[in-house]
Amino acid sequence: MNCLIIYSHPNPKSFNHAILETLTRALQERHHDVRARDLYGMDFDPVLRPRDFELMDQQKVAADVQPEQDHVRWADVLIFIFPVWWNSLPAIARGYIDRVLSVGFAYSQDAKGLLPGKKVVVIATMNAPQGVCEAAGVFNAMNITIGQSLASFCGMTLIAQKYFNSVASVSDSDRRKMLDEIILLAQEIK
Ligand SMILES: Cc1cc2nc3c(=O)[nH]c(=O)nc-3n(C[C@H](O)[C@H](O)[C@H](O)COP(=O)(O)O)c2cc1C
Repeated sequence: MNCLIIYSHPNPKSFNHAILETLTRALQERHHDVRARDLYGMDFDPVLRPRDFELMDQQKVAADVQPEQDHVRWADVLIFIFPVWWNSLPAIARGYIDRVLSVGFAYSQDAKGLLPGKKVVVIATMNAPQGVCEAAGVFNAMNITIGQSLASFCGMTLIAQKYFNSVASVSDSDRRKMLDEIILLAQEIK
């Protein structure tokens, strides 16, 4: 399968980066083709500007968006990897969705999904403990506002939405177990 990883973390020494490396390796070992879009590394502009709206009216997209849409066209599965910030996506990932999954490309004016057949995987890290997030309804909220809304609005299928909690406070061996879960997750991508 063609796997497009949309990766959003500013620090190449982060745990998120370890997830990116582990998943890329695991997918390649299973003979998938992998492309990673490192949004900080490529200095992606996440701001949906008046110019983007003008172009939308002409059924066009900005020069920096076009190659990203080509990557999405190529992909069978879109995999988002990011740290949870304020119970949501980092702004750079949010802006990638705003600008790249645009009207006329990812969904129609009358709200029909235009990317059927594609799959979505969401992998996110958090510092808050799992129990706290469950009690506060954070997982439910993020499940709806991130993976499910993305997938259903664009006609895609959400196959996994995985959260790793307390990543800053757990032991190295617990973090290694989390990376083992990433290897198992790669097996679900088929
Ligand atoms: C701006 C900002 C907002 C954050 N908001 C949350 C949050 O809402 N919930 C949470 O559990 N952790 C939050 N965190 C902590 C990050 O999720 C955490 O640092 C990250 O998942 C750790 O992964 P890393 O080691 O790869 O950076 C926030 C961190 C930052 C910098």
